Amino acid sequence: MPDVLVADQLEMVYGEGDTSTRALKDVSFGVNSGEFASIIGQSGSGKSTLLNILGLLDTPTGGRVILDDQDVTALDRTERARLRNRAIGFVFQFHHLLPEFTVSENMTMPAQISGRRIGEEDRERTTRILDLLGLEGLANKNANELSGGQKQRVAIGRALMNQPTIILADEPTGNLDSANTEGVYRLFREINQDLGTTFLIVTHDRGVAEMTDRVLEVRDGELVQDLRNTYLPPAGG
Ligand SMILES: Nc1ncnc2c1ncn2[C@@H]1O[C@H](COP(=O)(O)OP(=O)(O)OP(=O)(O)O)[C@@H](O)[C@H]1O
Ligand SMILES: [Mg+2]
Repeated sequence: MPDVLVADQLEMVYGEGDTSTRALKDVSFGVNSGEFASIIGQSGSGKSTLLNILGLLDTPTGGRVILDDQDVTALDRTERARLRNRAIGFVFQFHHLLPEFTVSENMTMPAQISGRRIGEEDRERTTRILDLLGLEGLANKNANELSGGQKQRVAIGRALMNQPTIILADEPTGNLDSANTEGVYRLFREINQDLGTTFLIVTHDRGVAEMTDRVLEVRDGELVQDLRNTYLPPAGG
């Protein structure tokens, strides 16, 4: 399988001089198409820094990001934004829904912000995704009338609207109870299997990471481990 996303010797230094922080140190790995992977590490280890760089929200101070065979570092701001909108879906710890807008308006908001007129196709896609998320019938409810778990599912739905190649999630269940946490992971799995969407999920919860197929561990800005869960039965009984 070809790599959809490559981190190539990524470096990130915040600030200058004595007060600078080296948040990433020579981080390299590739994510294959259709993979369901997680990034684990303690608070301050550099997980969000890494995810934001991979998601083209931030620019590294060294190294390259290659997304869909394109060297992103070579692109200008506009091209980068276009690639981000086309290829990447984000899910954050806090859902960032607009409370005064309906569920379907929240789902189509990114398209509207990018200046596109919302048409029949968008409405059909909204309905399909809401069905997939078990939110059928909630399209016209205001976001502030939903439960925490429902809101997070809408945020996942919003990330799926542009049919992204990869979903980058930063502590997507950090704000949910254990039942909703499991629900969100089950949903991610279904999306991964049904739509072939690649996942890279940041978490500090090892139990959650172990539900994924591959665990990348970041410690103090360095990639220190890259383990694949193979689910093979024990050999020879
Ligand atoms: N904008 C910034 N300016 C300066 N330093 C920053 C900035 N963002 C992050 N850092 C520093 O970079 C390091 C990595 O931070 P990062 O947010 O990536 O950690 P994290 O692994 O996501 O932690 P958490 O689990 O708490 O979210 C930390 O030392 C942090 O203080
Ligand atoms: Mg973080």
